Amino acid sequence: MEQELRSRGWFGKKGKDGFIYRAWMKNQGIPDFEFQGRPVIGICNTWSELTPCNAHFRELAESVKRGILQAGGFPVEFPVMSLGETLIKPTAMLYRNLVSMDVEESIRANPVDGVVLLCGCDKTTPALVMGACSVNIPSIVVSGGPMLTGHYKGKQIGTSDVWRFNDAVRTGEMTEEQLAEAEASMCRSRGHCAVMGTASSMACMVEALGLTLPGNAAIPAADSRRKVLAQYSGLRIVEMVKENLRPSDVLTRAAFENAIMVNAAIGGSSNFVIHLLAIAGRIGVDLTLQDFDTHSTHIPLLANIQPSGKYFMEDLYYAGGLPAVMKELLGHLNKDAFTVTGKTVFDNVSDAECYNREIVASTDQPINPVSGIIVLNGNLCESGAVVKPSAASSHLMKHSGKAVVFEDIEDYKARIDAPDLEVDESSILVLKNVGPMGYPGMPEVGNMALPRKLLAKGVTDMVRISDGRMSGTGFGTVILHASPEAAAGGNFAVVQSGDTISLDVLNRSLVLHVTDEELANRKLSWKSKAADPGRGYVSLYVRHVEQSHLGADLDFLKGMSGSTVTRDSH
Ligand code: FES
Repeated sequence: MEQELRSRGWFGKKGKDGFIYRAWMKNQGIPDFEFQGRPVIGICNTWSELTPCNAHFRELAESVKRGILQAGGFPVEFPVMSLGETLIKPTAMLYRNLVSMDVEESIRANPVDGVVLLCGCDKTTPALVMGACSVNIPSIVVSGGPMLTGHYKGKQIGTSDVWRFNDAVRTGEMTEEQLAEAEASMCRSRGHCAVMGTASSMACMVEALGLTLPGNAAIPAADSRRKVLAQYSGLRIVEMVKENLRPSDVLTRAAFENAIMVNAAIGGSSNFVIHLLAIAGRIGVDLTLQDFDTHSTHIPLLANIQPSGKYFMEDLYYAGGLPAVMKELLGHLNKDAFTVTGKTVFDNVSDAECYNREIVASTDQPINPVSGIIVLNGNLCESGAVVKPSAASSHLMKHSGKAVVFEDIEDYKARIDAPDLEVDESSILVLKNVGPMGYPGMPEVGNMALPRKLLAKGVTDMVRISDGRMSGTGFGTVILHASPEAAAGGNFAVVQSGDTISLDVLNRSLVLHVTDEELANRKLSWKSKAADPGRGYVSLYVRHVEQSHLGADLDFLKGMSGSTVTRDSH
């Protein structure tokens, strides 16, 4: 086994090179036997005080290290760029691919035989998995876990309430003082957002893909069992190195289909679509946007978690966690899909128990028979758009209305509350230039707040269409990821206020009632708003980012380059 260890290419060398590789490790007070002939396990850490959701990761890493040492491995923790969804401007999504490059190159360039990926806040999970896939050495994910549920004036609250509070302040139902009180009551523990937002959806995604130990997704960050799972993951990665169990052994097409089905059953985030497509692109599985509709829309909503349901991630854990959901789905899932446990999905979840049917429903009596991701087609989105029906209003699933178009997010902010804005509840709000290239970075602004004058009339939902994304905590009849985006020059680029748009979710159509001649005419005077700053990462990003229906990865990052490093530089 010793010869097979990748790290021997560093620490097992004789002469000057070996001297240099080992000598500087010894300045950390590490004796020879610790890293000679033992699996060296990297702990890829997205800890940062600027990523509050991941701020407890140094402690979590200590638990992982304990497991690695107990199993006879040698742990080495290393930092990568971290993405705090709430603080990073202009949007964390701009940097997901950059982090994936950091992860990929950090793993490949260093003497590690396996890697534990510490993921939490939204983009940190797909970024780390994408990077690890492009190297393809044994990898296991440990999520940071959700926050404990927030409490405000006797009510349980979570991130989805932020949108409600915002509307309540705009209509005067809530004061700024009350908002400040709610702010202090919501994020009351370590961990990521406590609802089924993108971070929780990503944690469920990696568990459904088979990249984590069972139960990883829902254990609250503050629960001591989170550390226990981290320690077991440390133990397991050492075994995985011995078995040479790599991401490509786990991430088969069957695993991707399982993840799509599980995301439907939990009412997971629409961002899941873009991230899963990007991961598939790295590992070489031919996943398409259509697969999300094909494999999800027959799956009912089983997890009663906000924003599609009522409860919080903490409740999901106490009800049996994701294994309880997956056990219910066994009739649909690819049961033989192989996982990092060295066992199949069936082996992992068939003994799971559900302790609360109000939170994890059975397939016979689901929370909502409608779930999944519906993929829309039509001349307004030639390469597709998505809608999450469990978060939408049933009365708007089939709807025609006049477009009220905002050319970009600044235009929207400037005019949405203007008293003379020509809009009523039948209008369709359209927001352009918030796609991957156009913003750039594809921010989460697709669930635009409604015009104040309509909120005051009691309107709670309208059809909204954009080429951007929506926070996984958001809700409403929101059509997202219209592709090609406005900045890429499809028909979406030239839709105008007053045009009629028809949405028919059940029939998967999104139609702009403007003739082809008129659209061609409008395109003659159209100019892309994609702005290349001419230098730096953003310039690279704008020139190479793919459209959302392909996963918004950089075109040259697709696929993998493996783990071989042949040259010594000393
Ligand atoms: Fe980090 Fe929601 S802000 S998970």
